[in-house]
Amino acid sequence: MSTGFSPYQLPEEYADIRAATREVCDAGVAPHAAEADATATFPEKSYEALKSADLHAPHIPAEYGGAGIDALGTAIVIEEVARACASSSLIPAVNKLGSLPLLLDGSEAMKRAYLPPVAAGDAMFSYCLSEPEAGSDAASMTTRAVRDTGVGGTGGWVLNGVKRWITNAGVSEFYTVFAVTEPGAGAKGISAFVVEKGDAGVSFGKPEKKLGIKGSPTAEVYFDSVRLPADRLIGEVGQGFSLAMRTLDHTRVTIAAQALGIAQGALDAATSYAAEREQFGKPIAAFQGVQFILADAAMKISAARELTYAAAARSERGDADLTYFGAAAKCFASDAAMQITTDMVQVLGGYGYTQDFPLERMMRDAKITQIYEGTNQIQRIVIARELQRGRAF
Ligand code: CAA
Repeated sequence: MSTGFSPYQLPEEYADIRAATREVCDAGVAPHAAEADATATFPEKSYEALKSADLHAPHIPAEYGGAGIDALGTAIVIEEVARACASSSLIPAVNKLGSLPLLLDGSEAMKRAYLPPVAAGDAMFSYCLSEPEAGSDAASMTTRAVRDTGVGGTGGWVLNGVKRWITNAGVSEFYTVFAVTEPGAGAKGISAFVVEKGDAGVSFGKPEKKLGIKGSPTAEVYFDSVRLPADRLIGEVGQGFSLAMRTLDHTRVTIAAQALGIAQGALDAATSYAAEREQFGKPIAAFQGVQFILADAAMKISAARELTYAAAARSERGDADLTYFGAAAKCFASDAAMQITTDMVQVLGGYGYTQDFPLERMMRDAKITQIYEGTNQIQRIVIARELQRGRAF
């Protein structure tokens, strides 16, 4: 699929991806969003709807059984799913986050082993970087992998440690896990592995009780002397931290898309409400006080969309300025989404503050986009560093 903007217009196929995803989400995702939130349960029906349309892991290349949708198309899918249900949008988003390290650095055998089940919808893939004491400072992790070379050793690795804030923990079959293989070597002493849910010694904590994205389970993952064959190593020993960062460069674009979708969903709901709701004898949409709030939201969404799609095109091409664009899109779109969802609750007044309307859920869901895949303060650090390196345009 082409990723060109000629002349600065998205090719027709992206409009088709949007229309097809919206249809699936209107019918099969949006109806379950409130329940997934209220009951804090994984939205199985939404997952089924996404799978039936091949939208659950759209980034997986066709050679591994996937839909082979490029980074821009995948961002549009995530945006549209998030417009209906932010929790459900973490299905395609985290499948990409978890499996991208394989696509970037994995061996062919590994890709053939792990990507087809994800493409088929038989497995999901999560990403294990953060730890209880290693959040923003990801390189300070203590999860440890040592060579399994003792008596009866496999020549592989033995993994011990705890990962925290793992999206879709327990639901996913596969996990990309970053662990220290050379203590004292800092970022250069970290390597990446694939761990399976069924590996002996893998277990999960209780789901976290969260403010939002309640339909997407978040939990700790424990590794208790998990023995991994040598072929579970992704890429080279010591290259894990760089791989973690390169992965996030791409997937921060998907969080931007998620934030954009949440904001668009809120604006759409508030715009319809303002056209219907009458006060002082006319629809509230006729009052400038309301018009200005809606207009500001629309402008910010347009700007966030341009930045997100520009970042997605760079992700697809692997441009040198992706680090900047990924961080900038994620930071801008998520800050916009937080403000917009808050403002859209305001448009609905007291009704917006109740669970009778989806706005309060959207406002709660928006908050996480400023936190995960690197807080927005970390994004600003990344942006400033790229500015210094002359790689921010
Ligand atoms: N691409 C390639 N290599 C990179 C890189 C990038 N974008 N960023 C850093 N590196 C490399 C550096 O080049 C360096 O290697 P060299 O010394 O060989 O040059 C090495 O990695 C260490 O880099 P830094 O010195 O910049 O590392 P740092 O310790 O200062 O940390 C940081 C940098 C940007 C703060 C980083 O730790 C970071 O991004 N923190 C946030 C962590 C994060 O985003 N966590 C999200 C968890 S995932 C999540 O939320 C998942 C979910 O479930 C949704």
